Amino acid sequence: MSRLVVVSNRVAVPNQQAANTGGLAVALREALQANGGVWFGWSGKIAQRTSSQPTLTEVAPVTYATVDLGRKDHSEYYNGFANRTLWPLFHYRLDLAEFPRQNYEGYLRVNSLFAEQLRPLLGDDDDIWIHDYHMIPLASELRRLGVRQRIGFFLHTPFPALEVFLALPSHERIARSLCAYDVVGFQTMNDLRAFLDYIVNESGGEVLEDGLVKAYGRTLKAQVFPIGVEAENLARTAAHALKVPAVRRFRESQRDRAFLMGVDRLDYSKGIPERFEAFQRFLERYPAWHRQVVMVQIAPGSRAEVPEYKQIREELEARAGHLNGAFADYDWTPLRYLNKGVPRETLVGFFRLSAAALVTPLRDGMNLVAKEYVCAQSPHEPGVLILSRFAGAARELDAALLVNPFDPDGVADAIARALNMSMEERVERWEAMIKPLRENSLDAWRDSFLKALRQAPYAAPSDTPG
Ligand code: ADP
Ligand code: G6P
Repeated sequence: MSRLVVVSNRVAVPNQQAANTGGLAVALREALQANGGVWFGWSGKIAQRTSSQPTLTEVAPVTYATVDLGRKDHSEYYNGFANRTLWPLFHYRLDLAEFPRQNYEGYLRVNSLFAEQLRPLLGDDDDIWIHDYHMIPLASELRRLGVRQRIGFFLHTPFPALEVFLALPSHERIARSLCAYDVVGFQTMNDLRAFLDYIVNESGGEVLEDGLVKAYGRTLKAQVFPIGVEAENLARTAAHALKVPAVRRFRESQRDRAFLMGVDRLDYSKGIPERFEAFQRFLERYPAWHRQVVMVQIAPGSRAEVPEYKQIREELEARAGHLNGAFADYDWTPLRYLNKGVPRETLVGFFRLSAAALVTPLRDGMNLVAKEYVCAQSPHEPGVLILSRFAGAARELDAALLVNPFDPDGVADAIARALNMSMEERVERWEAMIKPLRENSLDAWRDSFLKALRQAPYAAPSDTPG
């Protein structure tokens, strides 16, 4: 059996404090557990200077190979091009995207450095699987160093529509770098279509009938692989939710009130201010629910050095204060807003206890919280998922209450509908949602990607675009 080498910027090394929140870290941690392998990427640490070789940490069955980043590399590559250029652009936030050339150069430099440090760790039979927007140029850098085996790439975020992508000054180089892979995977058809649109209309390439792409002198496979969750495992954890003291304490503090749950990294793509606004509209328009309902929003801080993330944090504090100021009473706080990470069992327990979840991103590649929420429900008494149509998960979970997160009145109506929904309808919707989640588990996602990678047309390294 060949060894799996996973590469991503964020690496969840066990027992280290680097953030474990974020769909990518959660999913890859689980995807590597079964057969083990190597996980290469940033250590999460900022050092005086970028490490000259990776630190290896063995925690069977996985070897973690991590690199500390120097301040300048961290600032230009991670805070800069990855999180102030590609992230907003890929989430359709052209208004927030910045394009300083220096950050782009930092991005290329760090990718080249990662390639040099990864190269000596690679064996000839390894499956090499690279993840997310931080690492797009990595395959062409590895090719430059003579790596000949197939390399796959999976994009966890959306891929933007052509007109949005074209705003990126380096769009051509980024698209060309994507074509240095043998398989490029996307979360949804929408993302794949946007990529193919670029290939056909901008690169002068073509899309063949069997989903093969010919562009920049190479042939590769571009395909949709919607990421899954560990459905059975989550269901088992959720069934024991009340054994977790924090979950019990929380339930006692709620008395008979219904509660609505929101769980997101504190990111502007998640639509949290818009969600607070919708909850406020709900309280204004459905006063019979006063005192009967509490919304809990858990939002651990993220990318704290990026100014847009500082701003959204301040904005949310102000909005939460304002909402509670307007509606709270001596014995009722309608919105509880927490800025911290929560252990997985506790989170899943909260999911199980809630009447409904509000998963209302303005744009999201997939959104694992939506899937985890469904898996955590009791089959006999499931909560209701209120889901943004702009989350990738809405493709599979179309039995959720789908909403437009830009429309606070519509979301307020969906909250009322969820709280009033008959048990029969709740069960029916839940059954329709749990089915695809059980079928498309995280293992199935990994296996189908690796299968496609092994079957991809072999590209002679000399074909490689620069
Ligand atoms: P993103 O990758 O953009 O952060 P996802 O919803 O796809 O969004 O993935 C988030 C992951 O992080 C999920 O697995 C979720 O359970 C986890 N998570 C989110 N918030 C918290 C939190 N406060 N504590 C612990 N885990 C969290
Ligand atoms: C999203 C991205 C991941 C990233 C995660 C957390 O899920 O797709 O690549 O790891 O957010 O963000 P962070 O910047 O903390 O790694």
